[in-house]
Amino acid sequence: MDVKNTAGQPAEATPANIAPLAASHHWPKLAPFPVRKPELDFADTPRYWFGDNPVLTRHMDALSSLFPDGERFFVDAVRDFQQALADTPALRQEVRAFIGQEARHSEQHTHYNAGAGEAVEWSRQRCERLTRFARKHLPPKACLAVTICAEHFTATMGEHLLRREDIHGLHRDPEAQRMWLWHAIEETEHKATAFDVWRHVGGSETARMAHMLPVTAVLLGYLIIPATVELTRRDGQLFNLRAWGEAARVLLHPRRGYYTGLLRDYFAWFKPGFHPNDSDTRSLLASWRARLGFEGGDAPATH
Ligand SMILES: [Fe+2]
Ligand SMILES: [Fe+2]
Repeated sequence: MDVKNTAGQPAEATPANIAPLAASHHWPKLAPFPVRKPELDFADTPRYWFGDNPVLTRHMDALSSLFPDGERFFVDAVRDFQQALADTPALRQEVRAFIGQEARHSEQHTHYNAGAGEAVEWSRQRCERLTRFARKHLPPKACLAVTICAEHFTATMGEHLLRREDIHGLHRDPEAQRMWLWHAIEETEHKATAFDVWRHVGGSETARMAHMLPVTAVLLGYLIIPATVELTRRDGQLFNLRAWGEAARVLLHPRRGYYTGLLRDYFAWFKPGFHPNDSDTRSLLASWRARLGFEGGDAPATH
């Protein structure tokens, strides 16, 4: 496994024993990664599967609530520029695979959200209203800029989830864990797709960087943090200080926190000339594909 620690985190703990994930898949011709359709069943997922902790679990539920509408927005934003990719068949096919992966993510998170309780719908609707507003009021290029910024979030979070074996030990449900790992693998696989479209259509460095601060403010301040608080409140756990304390330790500890650990990679966005592939995740991906039993790694030689 690639143990290169890009964020100065503590060494990874002993790998947890994770069962393979049954998934059918196909390779869009010329695409460097496949579209997988995993078989997931959340019927036995415990209510608080993440560390037996309501705050941690509701935080994951809050994230999950954003994916169906959020990722549809990313797909639409990229699809709007498909015509401009006529001269680059490889990128055009990669976009097809990106669209396929994101569509499967929307599907599985909708499936997961249905079992996570009605409160998740509050957060999903908030995201739906926001994406509708953005589609209506932002030009296509700005939607693409928002998408590459949000994809930097999902790629950074995915990569760090794959690296943080110590956090996997807190997962109490194999299906929820495999959904998040599968999603993390695919966000890492397609981390450069929307970005390369942006570059191909002449997106500027200044606009790329300028969009990140408002996107971060909206993601954290309007979506993720309010949703975590609201879902926790609706469970009657808002004043469960033990749960909040443990969640803060897992997510925000100055040295071992999950989010603290990814700050350096997040801020890499602001380096002139940044590209998502600056962080080499190939061996990390190869290792995780093998562990989840996914066939293939890089694109096969023949299609
Ligand atoms: Fe996704
Ligand atoms: Fe993505």
